[in-house]
Amino acid sequence: MSDVLGVPASWVIVGNGSDDMLNVLVRACAEGSDRPIVYPMPTYVLYRTLAEIQPANPLEISYGETFELPLDDLVAAQAAITFIASPNSPSGHVVPIEQLRELASRVPGILAIDEAYVDFAENSALPLVQEFENVIVLRTLSKGYSLAGLRMGFGVANPQLLAGLFKVKDSYNIDAIAIQVGTAAMRDQAYKNECAAKVKGDRAQLMIDLKQLGFEMCPSHGNFLLATVPASSPAESLYLGLKERGILVRYFNQLGLADKLRITVGTPEQNQILLEAVMSLLQP
Ligand SMILES: Cc1ncc(COP(=O)(O)O)c(C=O)c1O
Repeated sequence: MSDVLGVPASWVIVGNGSDDMLNVLVRACAEGSDRPIVYPMPTYVLYRTLAEIQPANPLEISYGETFELPLDDLVAAQAAITFIASPNSPSGHVVPIEQLRELASRVPGILAIDEAYVDFAENSALPLVQEFENVIVLRTLSKGYSLAGLRMGFGVANPQLLAGLFKVKDSYNIDAIAIQVGTAAMRDQAYKNECAAKVKGDRAQLMIDLKQLGFEMCPSHGNFLLATVPASSPAESLYLGLKERGILVRYFNQLGLADKLRITVGTPEQNQILLEAVMSLLQP
């Protein structure tokens, strides 16, 4: 795994999915800390859940209208951990590496860059782990490798930072089968890249097709699109209508997302079925 990443083995910690790594990170860094855990919203819901379970104080700061990073406010939070998902879910946008670099240099605690969807993006922030002692990059085999059921994720950071996480993680958090299968999958970068390229091509086509039906969306760097529904057809009823037809998309009844659906890119055939179902559900 470290060969593929181009870092020494001592710079990698492996987890039972990246959720396990997020959990270990929160337990290791927020324990006894009166500093909050901060992240820009909307983002992956587990950051809040983990902070609440700890318990730690989750501090949520909104992204700008077109997902500009609230950099100064994140720094002002003086957090124990700053979480940035890049590419972000559900928006699919990436935070430019220069902004992550600035954040790393200004936050007092850990900057955790969650790259769960990086295989569908063009760039990674992985070089920052070499530049900053407080940066950890998290990855998973659930998305780009289509191995969500295998449960394998990992963190990359300098060994001093990882030492604190090794103290907290379960000794045997990865089983022998996941190690074998996960290692084989990571060795075959050509296959993973071929699959990710197909998703990216289908994502571009789906975006064109949804736009033709009146949806609006920004480019996504994940394996999904966050689509604003046409004004005449509320997002919740579209979501329910699709669900009745056996098509599952995400509807988030929360600030800034109530008029949007997160639609995972399927195969061309699945995307066609989705588009036909959407056409039949759209109000005139
Ligand atoms: C941003 C983000 N990070 C991490 C994960 C967790 O992935 P896993 O635990 O399957 O590795 C997800 C899963 O949906 C995610 O969306």
